[in-house]
Amino acid sequence: MSDVNVQVSYDDLIPNNVNLSEDRRLKRALEEWHPGYIDWWKNQGPDGFQEAQVYLRTAVGVDPAGWAKFGYVKMPEYRWGILLAPQEEDRKIAFGRHKGEPAWQEVPGEYRSLLRRLIVVQGDTEPASVEQQRHLGATCPSLYDLRNLFQVNVEEGRHLWAMVYLLQKYFGRDGREEAEAMLRRHSGDADKPRLLGAFNEATPDWLSFFMFTYFTDRDGKMQLASLAESGFDPLSRSCRFMLTEEAHHMFVGESGVSRVVQRTCEAMKTAGIDDPFDVEAVRKLGVIDLPTIQKKVNFHFAVTLDLFGAEVSTNAANAFNAGLKGRFQETKIDDDHQLDNSTYPVMKYVDGEFRAVDEPALNAINARLRDDYVKDAAGGVKRWNKLIAKIGVDFDLALPHQAFSRRIGEFAELSVTPGGIVVGEDAWQAQRDEWLPSKEDLEHINSLMKPVQEPGQYASWIAPPKVGIDNQPGDFEYVQLAS
Ligand SMILES: [Fe+2]
Ligand SMILES: [Fe+2]
Repeated sequence: MSDVNVQVSYDDLIPNNVNLSEDRRLKRALEEWHPGYIDWWKNQGPDGFQEAQVYLRTAVGVDPAGWAKFGYVKMPEYRWGILLAPQEEDRKIAFGRHKGEPAWQEVPGEYRSLLRRLIVVQGDTEPASVEQQRHLGATCPSLYDLRNLFQVNVEEGRHLWAMVYLLQKYFGRDGREEAEAMLRRHSGDADKPRLLGAFNEATPDWLSFFMFTYFTDRDGKMQLASLAESGFDPLSRSCRFMLTEEAHHMFVGESGVSRVVQRTCEAMKTAGIDDPFDVEAVRKLGVIDLPTIQKKVNFHFAVTLDLFGAEVSTNAANAFNAGLKGRFQETKIDDDHQLDNSTYPVMKYVDGEFRAVDEPALNAINARLRDDYVKDAAGGVKRWNKLIAKIGVDFDLALPHQAFSRRIGEFAELSVTPGGIVVGEDAWQAQRDEWLPSKEDLEHINSLMKPVQEPGQYASWIAPPKVGIDNQPGDFEYVQLAS
C-alpha cells in the first residue's frame, strides 16, 4: 500500500499526507522542531503583519482540486504541512549509472552525504527568501499585492518544511542537526549567511520583489524540476508538489513586472512623452522609467545565473551519475540518459570571443540547466515587450548577455557589457550606472514606496491586476489589518 494519500490530514499539529501519526519517532522530531520554526517565522518572517487576517490559499490535497481552499488566516496560524505528490507505481530511476533500477525508497548508503547536501542547499533557499522580503509589507502598493507577498512567503515556509521532513525522516542525527541549522543561518548575516549568494542580497523594494519572483524563483523551478527527476523517490515526490506552488510565485513576478511596465507606458502616453529615455520627465509622473526597469532586469538576471554554479562541474556530474539530480525534463530528452560518450556545447570566452566549446556532457549539467533557464526566462520578457508595443511606446526590454556582471563560473573574471562586449575593468566601472541600478535610480524607486492599504486602491506606479485572486472583486479586502 502506498504511504501517501491524495487528501491531507489536518487533524495533527503538522498537516500531512505521509501518515505521520504512524511514525512516532519522526512525529516527535518534527514536533520538537516546530516551536523553533514558529519563532523563526515571527522574528524573521513578515515584519509587522503577524496579527493581520490574510486571505490565503492552503492545499487540502495534492491533486489539482486540492488547491480550492481559500480563507482568512493569521500567518503564524497557517497550517504548514508535509505534502508529497502521489507515489508512482513501479517508478524507475531514469538516468545515470542506475538507470532502469527501481527508484529508491530509502537513502542509498553510498550517496548519503551527496544527497543530504542537495537537500540542504535547496532547503536553505526557502527561508532565505522570506527573510529577504520581510520588510516589504510596510510599503505594499495594494492589499492585493500584500496578500500575494504573504502567499509566497508562507509557501516558501512550507518548502522549508518539505526539505526538513526529508532530513528528519531519512538522515537521523545529521538530518536533525541540518534542520536546526536551517533556522540559525539568516539572509545577509555576517556570521551565518545563507548558503548561496543571491539569497544574501537585499530585496529592498517591490520592483525587486517582482524581479526576484520572476527570475530567482524561476531558478527554484529549474532546480526543483531537476530534483523531481531524482531516483530518491521521496525527494522526487516532494519536489513535484513544490513545483505546483512555485508556478504561482512566478505568476506573481511576471504579472507584477507587467503591471509596472503597463502603468509606466500608460502614464507616458497620457502625458504625451514619447522618449522613454527622458527619465526626468517620466519620473515626474510618479512611475518607474523603462531604463531603470531594464537595469533591474540586468541585475536580477545576472545574480540568478550565478546560482547555477560553475558551468563545468564534477559535483553536478556526480549527482547526475548517481541518479540523484537529473536534467530539466529528463524523461522527455531523447538520448541515452547516461551521457558517458556525449558532449554538450558550453559557452566560453576563448581567444577574444564567446563561442561554444564541446565538453563531456556529464560535466556540463549545470551549463545545460542554465541554458534551459535562459530559454524559460525569455518568455516573460517577450510578453512585456508586446505590452509596451501595444500601448505604443518605442522600447524593448532585453535579457543581458550571460557573461554580464557575473561572479561565479567562466565569466567571473571578465568585464562584459549587457550587449556582450568585453571591455576593460575601468571602462566597465565608468559605465556601470548605465547598466545596473544607480544610487539615483534606487532613490527614485524608494521615493515611490509608500504603502497603499485601502481595498481596491493601487500605488501610482503599478496598474491593478486584470483579475482578482480566487475571482474576488476589485475592492476585495485581501488583508484585514489588525487595528
Ligand atoms: Fe520555494
Ligand atoms: Fe518560490
